[in-house]
Amino acid sequence: MDFSLTPEQELFRKSAREFAQQELEPMAAILDKEHRPAIENLKKLGALGYLGMSISEEYGGIGADALSYAIVMEELSRACASTSTSVSVQNSLVNDVFNKFANDEQKQTYLPKLATGEFIGAFALSEPESGSDASAMKTTATLDGNEYIIKGSKMWITNAGFADVFIVTATTDAAAKHKGVSAFIVEKDTPGFTIGKEEDKLGIRGTSTCEIHFDNCRIPVSNRLSDEGMGFKIAMVTLNGGRIGIAAQALGIAQAAMDEAVKYSQEREAFGQKISNFQSIQFKLADMKAQIEGARLLVYKSAWKKDVGQDYSTDSAIAKLVAGELASQVADQALQIHGGYGYIRDYKVERLYRDARITRIYEGTSEIQKLVISRSMLG
Ligand code: CAA
Repeated sequence: MDFSLTPEQELFRKSAREFAQQELEPMAAILDKEHRPAIENLKKLGALGYLGMSISEEYGGIGADALSYAIVMEELSRACASTSTSVSVQNSLVNDVFNKFANDEQKQTYLPKLATGEFIGAFALSEPESGSDASAMKTTATLDGNEYIIKGSKMWITNAGFADVFIVTATTDAAAKHKGVSAFIVEKDTPGFTIGKEEDKLGIRGTSTCEIHFDNCRIPVSNRLSDEGMGFKIAMVTLNGGRIGIAAQALGIAQAAMDEAVKYSQEREAFGQKISNFQSIQFKLADMKAQIEGARLLVYKSAWKKDVGQDYSTDSAIAKLVAGELASQVADQALQIHGGYGYIRDYKVERLYRDARITRIYEGTSEIQKLVISRSMLG
């Protein structure tokens, strides 16, 4: 078994780390404090190709493998989890839908723009009354001549405030339950489509999260992705991949929290010595390191399985479950090491503690990951 990264993967890590330290780190606390979406960061990332990592060169992307993408997500998340959230939605939940389920014309229209960041994408599955139970959606799409009329609302839509194109699931045949869900491409200026209120969140405050509304919103039949009834499958397959990105994000947040804890413990003095001399601190740091190394193997394994064409749906659920839970635990312990200083906004660990929390919720809660994992065991 060979655990080494290729020279290309090492280069992705080095470049993403340098970019994150120089460009993302200085802005992260400001975006968080001002609740300002990381649009400027995304423009820079788009110009460098990071928004088109999952798009092939044929369509203007850089065609990176899933492991390189996970490494980049980890590095960006160490500096700014808000920015990496948008990077993950673009690559995992939008580009990958087009890669796998769009026809040639749809690919030609959208992928080159998504690759450069000229278009930012969003993925609209959840609704006010259906999150984990995704197939219980109430949004409908009714065929009328050569158009669909979409009615309903979606909630928790990352990037919504500034996205140009939305992947939207809606029911075309309610009686068929999940087999009656279809997926559509909706552009932001489509009449009948409006963006609702911006959510005021605990963490990842440099992202935009809104409700979106469809009031007799008409889109051409040519905007349907794949066949009618394929929408739920599209969402599930897409989330299998998305969970690798969020697991990598959680890993990056955990790594950043541990880095902060190590640094602080070597600066802070108590009882006449550095607190890193105390075994109670050393054991906390050792636990963090051991858990992070374990989670990293799971994240990289799930990405590797995707790259070699093996079924990775259970692996990505395991990686997201473990890394997501770990990020909250490590951030909590890192904050504890900081004592009262960890509880104020002047210290990075306070933001990491809040940012970590979402990784146990979006793209499938920890409980949904357990459902996916246990179903793979029990059938
Ligand atoms: N991969 C591929 N196919 C899958 C799948 C998976 N992981 N999970 C289910 N399916 C398929 C099944 O094979 C089945 O297909 P057939 O009809 O062909 O047999 C079909 O989907 C229905 O499966 P189930 O009967 O298992 O469906 P269910 O209703 O019991 O629920 C679930 C399945 C796993 C709970 C699913 O609803 C789920 O994943 N829920 C969580 C949704 C989620 O992650 N939401 C996150 C929102 S997106 C987000 O956060 C984006 C953002 O902006 C950051």
